[in-house]
Amino acid sequence: MFVCLGNICRSPAADATMRAKAAAAGLDVEVDSAGIGAWHTGQLPDARMRRCGDRHGYDLRHRARQVTAEDFDRFDIVMGMDAQNVIDLLGLAKTDGQRAKVRLMADYLTRHPGQKSIPDPYYGDESDFELAVELIEDAVENIVKLMKEGKI
Ligand code: 4NP
Repeated sequence: MFVCLGNICRSPAADATMRAKAAAAGLDVEVDSAGIGAWHTGQLPDARMRRCGDRHGYDLRHRARQVTAEDFDRFDIVMGMDAQNVIDLLGLAKTDGQRAKVRLMADYLTRHPGQKSIPDPYYGDESDFELAVELIEDAVENIVKLMKEGKI
C-alpha cells in the first residue's frame, strides 16, 4: 500500500510501477494506493503524472481515495513517500502491529544515495515528475527483489 499526500501524483505512480514490476517478476501481490488527504477523491492521477507514466510505460488509472483505518489491517506494508506521510500514517495507526507496517519508501532506494524522500512534484515542473518516477522505479525494483527473496 503506497501513500502520499494527495494520491494523484506519487502514490498512484508507485502503485502502477509496483503492479508492472511485480507481474514481470511473477510476484503475486495485492497493490493499492491512497492519500493522507481527501481533496482529490475520485480523480484520476494528475495529467502531468499520467504523461510521465506513459513515457515510462505505466498506465495510471487509479482513482484517488483517502487512506482508511482498514488499510492498516488489509495490507502488510503501508509505505509513505516522505517523512510527513510517515508521521501522518503513524498518527492514524491504532496498534503497535499497525505502526510496525509503516515504512518510508526512500529507505528502499539503491541508486540514489542520500535521497531521503520521494519529493512532492505537485508544485514543480516536468523534471520533478521525472525524478519522482525515477526514484519510484529504483525503490520498487528493490522492493520486488526483497519480496522475491522473502526478505520483506
Ligand atoms: P501527491 O502530490 O501527494 O504526490 O499526490 C500532491 C497532490 C495534491 C496536493 C499536494 C500534493 N494538493 O495539495 O492538492
